Amino acid sequence: MPRAAILGLGQYLPDRVVTNHDLARMFNTSDDWIQQRTGIVERRYANGDDVGGSDLAIPAAEEAVKAAGMRMSDVEFIIFATLSPDYFFPGSACVLQDKLGLPGIGALDLRNQCSGFIYSLSVADAFIRMGKYERILVVGAEVHSTALEYTDRGRDVTVLFGDGAGAAILGATEEDRGILSTHLHADGRFAKDLWLEIPASRYNPRLSKEHLEQGRHYPRMNGRKVFKMAVEKLPEVINEALTANGVTLSDIALFVPHQANLRINEFVGETLGIPPEKIYNNIQRYGNTTAASIPIALNEAIHEGKAKKGDLIMLAAFGSGFTWASCLLRL
Ligand code: UT7
Repeated sequence: MPRAAILGLGQYLPDRVVTNHDLARMFNTSDDWIQQRTGIVERRYANGDDVGGSDLAIPAAEEAVKAAGMRMSDVEFIIFATLSPDYFFPGSACVLQDKLGLPGIGALDLRNQCSGFIYSLSVADAFIRMGKYERILVVGAEVHSTALEYTDRGRDVTVLFGDGAGAAILGATEEDRGILSTHLHADGRFAKDLWLEIPASRYNPRLSKEHLEQGRHYPRMNGRKVFKMAVEKLPEVINEALTANGVTLSDIALFVPHQANLRINEFVGETLGIPPEKIYNNIQRYGNTTAASIPIALNEAIHEGKAKKGDLIMLAAFGSGFTWASCLLRL
């Protein structure tokens, strides 16, 4: 049975840099508060009014295809992980498929928020192992900046998020590398602890003047609960991957966790006893780019020489849903 390996990665961050000081000019926050609680220094926002996740995904996908030594026309299927789709429907995978000039191939949206990229890797891995496809483009892309509330009411959420895209080409390989296992979890009892409620098909109309006045079209979060659950579930799901593969922490060359909060990743590292230099973080520069954060971080780690072919890499994520997941792979 073939294995699915990451054959190439790509990323795109818009060039508009928004610092903590910029946010502090819009509402009551400070660079000190944001850095102390989250580690974030700056993030990127998409430029202009008519830019969706599919637009950010184009250069990321092109870079991933190039890194894999392929042509775009070799892509057989697209999986697009996002919590900020271009439209309510159709999915961003369809929108991206058109922009990449790939009419006719299957295009799937995956809505699993911060765990979306690992869930997508899991689906791509299953398709490749069963022989259905040989080359799958997996994208994580978000435009958060158009849905954030730039006021004191929304400041806890607003300071965390940034826009960006990451992409990977998953391909069949007979080599002794690739995705070794994925572990996917969710607990919908906590759905409302990190969510964006409106527009919602359960209300008629889906979006009203009252909804807008109440600010229910902005994301809301119970930050303390997210933090508490994240530092409990991330070690659990990392240990699950280690046990499933009969490996130990010291076998892992690099941990590439979702970039939600530097403090969460530091806490998880301390809990498990992982040396800080073995945990890759770039949230300082990009904030939380949700489904895009892991492919961007893995790509940068490889470019910085912190992860190389043959290394065992652990990916892990926790976020809205709640969802959490891990993936052990050999590069
Ligand atoms: O992918 C998952 C995405 N989400 C997360 O990972 C979030 C996880 N949670 C967190 O990272 C933290 O809970 C936060 C960084 C969001 C908040 O940190 P906290 O230490 O849990 O703060 P808190 O919510 O308990 O608020 C402490 C104080 C409050 O003021 P009072 O009531 O003590 O006067 C907040 O109103 O900090 C205030 N506050 C802020 N102050 C300045 C909340 N947001 C801000 C802000 N700037 N942006």
